[in-house]
Amino acid sequence: MGSSSDALIIRHDFIHLPRSKLTAASTGSSIHRFFGRAYLSGPFTADDRMKIPKRLAPLLEEGLIDEVIGQLMSGKEATVYVVRSGESTRCAKVYKDAKQRSFRQAASYRDGRKVKNSRQARAMEKGTRYGRQMQEASWQNAEVDALFRLADAGVRVPQPYICTDGVLLMELVIDEVGDVAPRLNDVDLTEARALELHALLLNQVVRMLCAGVIHGDLSEYNILLAADGPVIIDLPQAVDAAGNNEAASMLKRDVDNLAAYFGRFAPQILTASFGTEIWALFEAGQLHVDAELTGRIEADTRPVDLDGVLQELEETRLEEEARVRRQQELSAGR
Ligand SMILES: Nc1ncnc2c1ncn2[C@@H]1O[C@H](COP(=O)(O)OP(=O)(O)O)[C@@H](O)[C@H]1O
Ligand SMILES: [Mg+2]
Repeated sequence: MGSSSDALIIRHDFIHLPRSKLTAASTGSSIHRFFGRAYLSGPFTADDRMKIPKRLAPLLEEGLIDEVIGQLMSGKEATVYVVRSGESTRCAKVYKDAKQRSFRQAASYRDGRKVKNSRQARAMEKGTRYGRQMQEASWQNAEVDALFRLADAGVRVPQPYICTDGVLLMELVIDEVGDVAPRLNDVDLTEARALELHALLLNQVVRMLCAGVIHGDLSEYNILLAADGPVIIDLPQAVDAAGNNEAASMLKRDVDNLAAYFGRFAPQILTASFGTEIWALFEAGQLHVDAELTGRIEADTRPVDLDGVLQELEETRLEEEARVRRQQELSAGR
């Protein structure tokens, strides 16, 4: 199949990509077909052809996509397809609707997400049908917002093209031979490579935080290993670092997930405390995109100012005494 040196292949033999899952699109009858730079390998028979998924039909009608090549993945919250738009092969993420989708701690994820219109905000609070629709839209827009914000901040995320009718059209992330990029979870790493990727991803987390964004669901399942390095995906639950009460714990969880994964290949990562370090720098206003991290938290070794503490206690005691005295004088005078 690799007779043409140009041929880039969408491979479908990853564990999460069983051959039967990636089926050919409606009109296809040829065995091997080129789509832009990507090449989908067969063999496909008429039986393999998939019906146009209902949710993608409006995009086909509007000419935003020209063909549905196959289904990549059906996850917790979305079904992902490989599609062709003109000359390019792209990825279409179809969000499941709220009823089917498990809203993981939806309230804490919503916390801090700005809803511009107060009628919208009230409807979202009440959970009316309109409210649910708004919540749905804000969930989906949150992913697009985050993708644009993060790309601007120098974080490697898929290039978004459009989000319409509950479908996000974005760059299909591919590896160095043109296959759909594997998830980190699907690869084996040497210790050196694990250390390298861990450092790279910590820097991406820092860049995200500098842009005010916390992923909120970062793990080996939401990072793809592309030709140009790791690519962070799946951002509908991304949160605003400044406006969310749980920002610190979410950031630490994201960073801990990375440590747990890379720690399998490089156990020294398991004993570091990068999450705490990053958050401390952020809170102190000292985080910048190239922050050098040590993974160690400096213990506060300054001597305790015992006299100062005692004096403060004494002042508090005196203030309280004065307050009680005033109170007594007031009630005696009445
Ligand atoms: N832009 C993309 N390029 C290639 N594969 C993708 C892309 N986006 C998603 N995928 C694949 O689809 C899967 C599900 O997408 P994701 O955004 O993580 O949604 P979910 O909420 O269902 O986890 C990913 O694990 C990945 O394998
Ligand atoms: Mg995911």
